[in-house]
Amino acid sequence: MCGIVAYVGHREAYPLIIKGLKRLEYRGYDSAGVALLIGGELTIYKKKGKVADLEASLIDAHPTSTIGMGHTRWATHGEPNDRNAHPHYSHSGRLAIIHNGIIENYEAIKQKLQSKGYEFRSDTDSEVFVNFIEDIQKATASSLEEAVRLAMQEVVGAYAIVLMSAEPEDSGLLIAARKGSPLVIGVGEDEYFFASDATPIIEYTKEVIYLDDHQIAVVRAGELTVTNIDNVPQSPYIQTVELELEAIEKGGFEHFMLKEIFEQPRSVKDCMRGRVSADEGYLVLGGLRDYLDSIAKSKRIVIVACGTSWHAGLVAEYIFEELARIPVEVEYASEFRYRNPIIKEGDVVIAISQSGETMDTLAALELAKSKGAIILGVCNVVGSSIPRLTHAGAYTHAGPEIGVASTKAFTAQVTVLTLMAIAVARKKGILHEDTFRRLLFELERIPDKIEKVLKSAEKIKEMAWQFHEARNFLYLGRGSNFPVALEGALKLKEISYIHAEGYPAAEMKHGPIALIDQDMPVVFIATRDNSYEKIVSNIQEVKARKGKVIAVVTEGDKLIPTLADHVLEVPITHEILTPLLSVVPLQLLSYYIAVMRGCNVDQPRNLAKSVTVE
Ligand code: F6R
Repeated sequence: MCGIVAYVGHREAYPLIIKGLKRLEYRGYDSAGVALLIGGELTIYKKKGKVADLEASLIDAHPTSTIGMGHTRWATHGEPNDRNAHPHYSHSGRLAIIHNGIIENYEAIKQKLQSKGYEFRSDTDSEVFVNFIEDIQKATASSLEEAVRLAMQEVVGAYAIVLMSAEPEDSGLLIAARKGSPLVIGVGEDEYFFASDATPIIEYTKEVIYLDDHQIAVVRAGELTVTNIDNVPQSPYIQTVELELEAIEKGGFEHFMLKEIFEQPRSVKDCMRGRVSADEGYLVLGGLRDYLDSIAKSKRIVIVACGTSWHAGLVAEYIFEELARIPVEVEYASEFRYRNPIIKEGDVVIAISQSGETMDTLAALELAKSKGAIILGVCNVVGSSIPRLTHAGAYTHAGPEIGVASTKAFTAQVTVLTLMAIAVARKKGILHEDTFRRLLFELERIPDKIEKVLKSAEKIKEMAWQFHEARNFLYLGRGSNFPVALEGALKLKEISYIHAEGYPAAEMKHGPIALIDQDMPVVFIATRDNSYEKIVSNIQEVKARKGKVIAVVTEGDKLIPTLADHVLEVPITHEILTPLLSVVPLQLLSYYIAVMRGCNVDQPRNLAKSVTVE
């Protein structure tokens, strides 16, 4: 949801900002812009389209400055065009802002400003914000810092902002503030960086500060100070990010999504590293140690998440209920937060989020916390908002996920949630030692088994060719493969724009079967488990109506290959771990179909990686 980057120091700001924006483009990519202080004036360049379009338009401009800021946008207020692109000037042209988030009361503020003669060049709430700050500064004759603070007390909504000023007394000044949208400060040698995440920064410094809500960071005359909304000085904690440059580059793959699919053997291993040893019968989730007892005693677990993370939650529901025998409810965070949910003291609420910033998930968690629940997080981005809000949690350690479609985050989430369920079942004393050892043994083999599935990439690519012009797809599965069906359908629709639906296979007869004819590809996730016979019947029902069947089966299956048009094999594993394998061919199928349709798989239309607005 919009990427922001800003720099002040001794380097050329423009190339640094452009490079940073490209790293943040996963957050939004409908327009981009840069503001630089050149000869005492704020100069803004902005353009509809990708960062590369902006860069191309400036090929002969060679803008030079050691202070500047840039923005890549995911439109909320106002369509994507040059006018609505950030940065935005204030009315006087002496201030400029970049903004990630939404100002909910912008309309009322705008009307007030209009009655005072302010005119607006764009349709954005962000331009209202900068003018509001300018108006407060004029009215109170205060410093820009103070005006920002006063404005923050009035605006409702979520934001991360950076401001620059053209006033001589503000030369070298960058002001940043946050509420609800992420903002990281990189601390270098006589230089500072601001960005939506650490990826634009790590090339220059690994020392970072994660700004908290209601904090204001000011770099003036080369000095950084952080205060809160009441002007109380803060002592920000400088931490070292453990992120290497190669983790955020494509490393020879055509797309980040393909790289991330192929990284899964490693990311699943990384997420178990130091936590599991089958030989020693060892399972430790350090971040949950103090809460394991409370989870084991809880009467129910509620999982809140969105999108792919919600699908991981659905898989976890099967695993927790099977192993730990605790009732689990899996809720869309957006629905949960607005329906006065019943939460009792001692209930456990787990948020699953790759980014750790999803607004609805964060708000659902805040609500659960206020009602006395124990709140836990399963997140990928270290230091993000959700892990900072929770009582405890477990990181997925999948490494940065840059492709907008989530792949390795899903398998890492399912892995961590499986470890949690096993740990809770052990704590309750209801997991037999043999089952415990067998689960750990099988978990340790999952990375190699994913590697094996990846070897069928060429076969999946050939198959994709036969389906890349399809207009609809149906995905069907039972048990914990039902969420895999949902995930397969989501992956396909979001990157290839083919309409796809996922259903529990048994639900087919209650409606979707009406769609089946010779043009309808139906993907069955039909691995060997206790509903195998039933899903075989469902395949036969589809074939009887001339549907085209693609089946994901367990290696060595003899029956389904005689029924299905195409089969994709996955190695055998413990039944509850099957989703970790069965999802992988579906990720590859979506990827290849999208590429064959000429779609931009890493940056699908209308989407952004991190949804920090409702
Ligand atoms: C789909 C996808 C989204 C996210 C969802 C939640 O491929 O990426 O559906 O899963 O926006 O995001 P996080 O996990 O960051 O909370």
